[in-house]
Amino acid sequence: MTAPTEARPAPFALIAVALSLLVVPLNCVVFYLMLDGPRSELDTWLVLFLMLAGLQFVFGVVAVVAGVIERRRNGQGGLGPIIFGSLSALGAPAGAVGAVFLSALSSMGGAWGRPLRVKGRQLHPNLREGADWTDGDRPEAGALAEADRRALEALWLHDAQKEHASVPAFSRISWLLAAVGAPAELMTWSHRAAMEEIDHARRCFALAAGYGGRTFTVEPMPDLLLGALELKDDPLVTLAVESVSDGCQLEDFNADVAGECATVCEEPATKRLLEQIAREERSHADFSWALVEWLVQRDAPRVVPALARAVERLEGYPRPTAVSAEKQGLVAKADASVLRRHGRLPDERWAALWDVRLAATRDRVQRLLGGVQARAA
Ligand SMILES: [Fe+2]
Ligand SMILES: [Fe+2]
Repeated sequence: MTAPTEARPAPFALIAVALSLLVVPLNCVVFYLMLDGPRSELDTWLVLFLMLAGLQFVFGVVAVVAGVIERRRNGQGGLGPIIFGSLSALGAPAGAVGAVFLSALSSMGGAWGRPLRVKGRQLHPNLREGADWTDGDRPEAGALAEADRRALEALWLHDAQKEHASVPAFSRISWLLAAVGAPAELMTWSHRAAMEEIDHARRCFALAAGYGGRTFTVEPMPDLLLGALELKDDPLVTLAVESVSDGCQLEDFNADVAGECATVCEEPATKRLLEQIAREERSHADFSWALVEWLVQRDAPRVVPALARAVERLEGYPRPTAVSAEKQGLVAKADASVLRRHGRLPDERWAALWDVRLAATRDRVQRLLGGVQARAA
């Protein structure tokens, strides 16, 4: 005869599965905030999401274990906690991977700058209220609808963040140039590019202020203290490989996009900045090409194989998108024709320009390598 206490359903299993399932809607809310909230809060939401996912996983596992124990003791029951606990426990890591991916994706998106990476993660500064980085002409935005103004503000703020990140990115290049004994012309060019990126950032903040009617500035970037040079190979190889992807391909592409955006832009202040960015990003790409050529002259046996590998890997280089993941909600509410008149092209144009530039970069590197081989022969 079974003891009455053994026949009762195990409340522990039910509590565990209830807690596990309770966390799911909470995580959905946090995920929504990650998608639609301000970029400055993204890291907070990500941490909260990961903590909740951890709780969901633990409760799910506890529910499964409690269900299995109940089933062993009674020979029946416990199936609900096992099924729902398993689903909940499996959903937690899947959600966590998605959230981390979203967070990484949100740091991408179109912008006119050289990427800044620390520990393999692309960085740009978070924003807060302030005006010490705002300097430049402002657009005439008084007649625009609120949704259009908010979208344009968000897009120019994103560009400002990326332009700002380009400044330490060029500082790192200058550091590496000194390490390998580069000539004064290249060192000057690298510093000039950094100064131009400062100017781009300030002018992007000014355009954002004109569209949004409020000003923002940058938060400190303590992650820059975690690492800087990130050398995986010898510095000549690092400079060569990064110059091909981040410089030759990306900054030439930036110039292509900015140039086409300028041609469709009807707002005078915005158009002027787009033209300036197109011109100066082209110069930054030219700097990278000049650096690659100098590196080949300096040590062809080390640099040429690295360039060949770099050009093969270009296919997998992530293309910047016209709008970052976190801004897509805001931009979707705006009128696409208004965005175009204010110099914002759809992502299809970015994709098309990327493919053309990719082919051109690949051809140019291969011509360079062919010339080296011909001279050696
Ligand atoms: Fe640049
Ligand atoms: Fe720039």
